[in-house]
Order: sequence, then structure tokens, then C-alpha cells
Amino acid sequence: MKVVVLVSGGGSNLQALIDGQQDGSLPIEIAAVISNRPGVKGLDRARDNGISAELLDHKNFDSRDDFDASLMNLIDSFDAELIVLAGFMRILTPQFTGHYVGRMLNIHPSLLPKYQGLHTHQRALDAADSEHGVSVHFVTAELDGGPIAIQARVPVLLDDDANSLAKRVQAQEHVIYPLAVKWFALQRLTMKDNLAVLDNKVLPNNGYQIDTSV
Ligand code: GAR
Repeated sequence: MKVVVLVSGGGSNLQALIDGQQDGSLPIEIAAVISNRPGVKGLDRARDNGISAELLDHKNFDSRDDFDASLMNLIDSFDAELIVLAGFMRILTPQFTGHYVGRMLNIHPSLLPKYQGLHTHQRALDAADSEHGVSVHFVTAELDGGPIAIQARVPVLLDDDANSLAKRVQAQEHVIYPLAVKWFALQRLTMKDNLAVLDNKVLPNNGYQIDTSV
């Protein structure tokens, strides 16, 4: 399955997908990586692995509508069946999300619907949560609000700060994002009637729960 990955930064989730493509565990071809920010490591990771690395700098556009329209044209030039947002830090227009509905995934570092938006790790600490985690969800017009495919939970430890908690969460990101992409590529994971469906069964609202203790 042809995939386009959108990044804004380091691209460690992109790397997990590249690794899966290269070791044969993921039945995908990453056709291109697109960044809205210049000079990011995610673009280097693409180039280092022979993948088209495209920059579409949002600062060169007058409006969100113009940027999203150009981004759509660029993505569609690669004939992708799946769009993967991997640390892509942009609010998307409804025209954009509508165009890719049911075939665009995002990873968000919280147990959605908790902590949509930014600074999720600090917010979990401030709320004295005993657990935190990460969600992979289908993208809809609602920010961080589409149907959840998979979640992984991690404990919040007494001496955690936002960095240590982020590291624990990221280790799980690199497990659940390739898994969600694999399930989608195998047509086991779909979105129907605004619900996430796995193997023809509607998933619970918080998605398939990964057991991180094993
Ligand atoms: C990841 O932690 C991802 O969950 C988060 O950005 C990071 C990107 O890391 N995404 C969001 O916050 C989206 N709202 P990466 O560039 O190393 O994959």
C-alpha cells in the first residue's frame, strides 16, 4: 500500500515506519515524506532511506486554505492510499480532512479524549494522573477527535517530569503506529460511519487497548 507521511519535526515515528517497511513487517511503500518546516530531521530520514523528501513551507502561504490546497495537490501526486500524520503540527481545514476521511491516521500523545492539543505530558502531570499514554486515531474535522483505533497506556511515576514521561510514551508510539498502519494496509482496520472497525467489529470508543506490560 502506498503511503505518504507528513512530519513537522524529528520523525521518530516516521523512522519506526521506515524500519517496518525495510524489515518486511509492514506491507507498505512510503512514497513520500512531506514536511511543513524546513531543515527537520524527518526530511533527512526520508532522504537517507531513498524516499522522496518534500518541503512545503506553510510560511510561504497567505492562508490556511491555500496551504492545505497545495498540500492536497502534492499528496495526491503520489497516489497514496493512506496518509500518516507523524508529528505533523498543523490544524487542518475541513476541506482537507474531508478529502482524506477514512484514509488518514494521526498519532496523539495522550489517552484521547483527554488532552487534545498541546503539552499533553505536562497536563497529565499537573492533573496528577496515575496513567497516561498515546492514541492512534482516524482524522476527521474535529481536532484530535476522530475515531480511535489503538491506545497504549503507561504508568506515571512519582519522579516523572514531562521529558521522562514523553520518553515512556514515545516508546509505545513506535509500537502502536506501525501496528495501526499494518492493520490498515491489510484492510483489517477501517473507518465506517465515524467508527473505527477492526476485523469487521466496531472498536470501543477508546480503541483497541495494547497491553504494555508484556
Ligand atoms: C510524537 O510524540 C507525536 O505523538 C506528537 O508529536 C511527536 C512527534 O515525534 N504529535 C502530536 O502532538 C500531534 N498533536 P516524532 O517527530 O519523533 O515522530
